[in-house]
This record gives sequence, C-alpha cells and structure tokens, in this order.
Amino acid sequence: MQHQLVLVVDFGGQYSQLIVRRVREFGIYSEMVPWTKASQFISQNQPSAVILSGGPRSVLESNAPTIDLSILEGIPTLGICYGMQLMAHQLGGEVEKSSDREYGLRQVKVKVPTVHPLKEWRLVDSLDNPQVWMSHGDQVLSIPNDFEWTAETDSCPYAGMESESRQMYGVQFHPEVTHTISGREVLRSFLLEKAKLSCDWTGESFVEDSIKQIQAQVGPTGKVLCAVSGGVDSSVMAALLIRAIGERAVCVFVDHGLLRKDEAAGVEETFSGHFHANLKVFREQERFFGSLKGVTDPEQKRKIIGEEFVNVFDAHATELEDCDFLAQGTIYPDVVESGSDTAAKIKSHHNVGGMPDWFKAKRTIIEPLRLLFKDEVRQAGRLLGLPDEMVDREPFPGPGLAVRITGEVTPERVKIVQEADAIFRDELRASGANKGIWQSYAALLDVRSVGVMGDERTYQQPIVLRAVESEDAMTATAVRIPYEVLERVSSRIVNEVHGVNRVFYDLTSKPPATIELE
Ligand code: XMP
Repeated sequence: MQHQLVLVVDFGGQYSQLIVRRVREFGIYSEMVPWTKASQFISQNQPSAVILSGGPRSVLESNAPTIDLSILEGIPTLGICYGMQLMAHQLGGEVEKSSDREYGLRQVKVKVPTVHPLKEWRLVDSLDNPQVWMSHGDQVLSIPNDFEWTAETDSCPYAGMESESRQMYGVQFHPEVTHTISGREVLRSFLLEKAKLSCDWTGESFVEDSIKQIQAQVGPTGKVLCAVSGGVDSSVMAALLIRAIGERAVCVFVDHGLLRKDEAAGVEETFSGHFHANLKVFREQERFFGSLKGVTDPEQKRKIIGEEFVNVFDAHATELEDCDFLAQGTIYPDVVESGSDTAAKIKSHHNVGGMPDWFKAKRTIIEPLRLLFKDEVRQAGRLLGLPDEMVDREPFPGPGLAVRITGEVTPERVKIVQEADAIFRDELRASGANKGIWQSYAALLDVRSVGVMGDERTYQQPIVLRAVESEDAMTATAVRIPYEVLERVSSRIVNEVHGVNRVFYDLTSKPPATIELE
C-alpha cells in the first residue's frame, strides 16, 4: 500500500529525528533527508507535506544550508526555527543576525487575526497552552508580504507566520519537544487540517508492507541468511523473514555460552518451537571458552570473540553457501546518522565481528528494518508474535557476559554471573523496580575477600549489581533502587550462588564510568 509521505528536511537540528517520530505517532509515514539531498529526493518521491527542521547555522552565512523553496510550490510546508528563518529570508522578509542564543521556555502570545472574520484556523490557534520551547540565535525581523504574523513572545516578535495561499507555515519555537505543551496540537493542525493527510500508517501496515517488500526483493526462490543473537532487532528481523519467505529464511544462532541465563534456550524455543523456523544452532561454547582461556585484558577478549564469530561462519560455510542474501538489522537511526552530514557519528568501537568479508561480498544485503525506529521494531515484534521478554529485551553487548566478568572468562565464572543476574532481574521484576531501567545486570569481579558462612571462613568473589537510566547509552545514571530490594537481592545471591560472599551496588554515572564494566 502506498502511504503519503511527510519529508523532514534536516538542517542539522538536534530535534530533527524527533520531528519524524512525532509525525509517525499520528500514523503518518515520515522520513528525513539531509538538506543537501532534499531537492533530488523531493522530485523523486513527491512528498505530501514537508517540514523544514531547525539547525545551528545562520541563513545569513555564506554557504548556509538551504534549499530552493520554489520546488515546494503546492506542497504544504512547515518551517520550524531555522526552517522559518529560511522561509522569511528567501521569500522577501528579513532575518536579523544575533550573537546570543535564546534558549528555554517562553510564553507565546497569539496575535489577533488580521482577516475578519477569521476564515482559516491558523496553526497557532491550536496553542491551548502558551508555553513553548525556544532555541535560536538569529530571528526574523520582518515577514514576507503575503504572510500573516501569527505569534510573538516578549523577546522574539516574530514567533509565528503563515501564508494560506502559499501553504507555508512557520514557527520559531519547537512544537516537536514536549516542553512545548501544545506542540502536538500544532503539528496535528499542520498535518491533518492544512496538509489534510490520512493516518493510515499503522503497525499492521508496516508489517504487511515489509513482508511484501521482502518477498519482492528475494523473489520466489531466493534464500536469506539471518543471524539471530537473541537481541530485539535480529529477532524481529528473523520473525519478519520467516513470515515472508518461510523456510527460505535460514536462521543461524551461534551459542557462544556468553548469554544470560536461559536466553539461548529461549531463542531456540521461540524460533524452532514456536515459529518452526529453519534454525541452525551452532553450539560453539568450547571454541569461545577455549580461545578465552587465560585472557584477562578487556580489549583482547573483544577481539577474540569478534574473530571467533567469523571463524564459526567460516567453519560452517558449506551449510550456508546457498544463501543468496544476507539480512542485516540496520534500523532507521543508523540510516539517518550515517547519511547525514551534520548529525554526530554513531559509535563504532563496540561492534564485534560478524560475517566473514568473503561471505558478505558474494551476497546481496537486505535490511528489512531500515525504515523503523526502535519502538516501531518492538511494535512489529509484538504483532509478529514474539514473546515479551524478547521484544522488551535490554541492550546487550555483542561480547556478552565476557565484558561483565573482570579477569578470566571460564564456564564456572559465567555460571556464577548467570545465576546472580537471574536473581537480580527476578527481584527487580517482582518488586516493580524494573520500570524505567535502561539496563540492569550482575557482574563478577576478579578479587576475593573474606566472609563467614555458618561457622566457616569464606574467601570468595564479589558480585557487582548495576542498574542505569539512560536515553541513548551515551550518558547514564545509577537507578535509585529501593534499599529493601537491594537487600533481598544481596541476601539471595550470597545464599544461593555458590562462590560469592559479597554484593556491591555500583553508584557511578556515565561518564566517568561506562555502562558495562569492560
Ligand atoms: P558502555 O559500556 O560503553 O556501553 O557505556 C554503552 C552501550 O553499548 C553496549 N555495549 C555494546 N554493544 N557490542 C555491542 O553491541 C559491544 O561490544 C558493547 N559494549 C557495550 C552497552 O551494553 C550499552 O548499552
């Protein structure tokens, strides 16, 4: 099914992706392109509406980010912040350069309409609450002739302008952030009343569209190799592929022995038992533990695990030879971040190995999730029938529990971490303290301390518990878990997990610590 498209032109604003998300929350499909690629994209894709994002530059600079607004004729367009300034600058108004930034909450005053009686509902008429979020340097000094001045604040006279005849609407504030209390209504007014879009992009429709797209791309006989790790993205991708092409989705799961308790069994049960997938499980614990023997350096561990993944695929190459396609779990934030000239680069240092290069080189890559945000991936997973524990799974490092065990990684030490971690998660869930947690886990330290158990002296290792809140894993703070929950977890761990006689809770934020121990 063809959906109407709202194109967000990214001028480098920190909220540009958020605009896309907000539009999609209305059930309207939206994509983002950097301003450098916008003209071509618009002529090829004919969006039903366009939103010009904010940005850190000045329209008055030489080489300022820009697009020729005449290509938007006939397309309802909303300019936000820099986007509004660009409209004013190009269409006959004036923009004033400023050396200071205005940043924070403001009260907006909606201007009395100049046309009486009011013929059209203006975007700003949706502002039931006057609180808006501003973040700009330059501001509009005069608006183009055929625009109506719609809103002001004490410090910014031209906080809104619009031209019904041109179908162009501008706001200096940011309707996409939640600090603009009626921001959603402003966006709704633009999308539904001005651009008259229909809300037909739903979870069901994107699952259906993805399935059709996979079928078209893979053809009637193609086979796709899909490596599943137990993580959300690869699980949803596999579930989609299975639904689309059944047995021709060759799912591969490498059990390296470094997952959390019962997770490997859960992957097998879901894909073999529930989906009756064509699942190949490579049980390679010995290989991984063998190579990790005696290794204590964190970087060395990562390197070994990365290399062993490649070796596993090399070793099983003949079984996988007849796959013509290789599925990758790229999601929308990766797509826009790697295609953007302006957004910060995604971190790369964490990724461990994957498929051997020779294997990739011979196969067409398909990325069934490339248009979805993480929460949309989760929604698709639910619709496809994946269990909650898979769909709601926390981010988990590629090298697995190896980076949650300082010192040597042995099967015995992995078992200790798995047991302690299961108790911690159990108690968090049972007490409801797991709500809002980004990641939580138990780790094992490579030191020993003295304790007493019964009448016996013990000399054993400590478990560290870590639970953090975060938006994007770039920064994080320790969660204030109720003391009684921590106490219960600590008591259960020392009583139930053989080899542990002390439990610590990690209070450090990131920075200066990182989320994982290694
Ligand atoms: P740190 O420990 O750097 O982790 O604060 C930030 C986020 O990345 C995850 N992480 C990894 N993910 N391979 C991955 O795929 C890795 O090697 C890796 N190391 C850390 C970590 O769990 C957190 O969400």
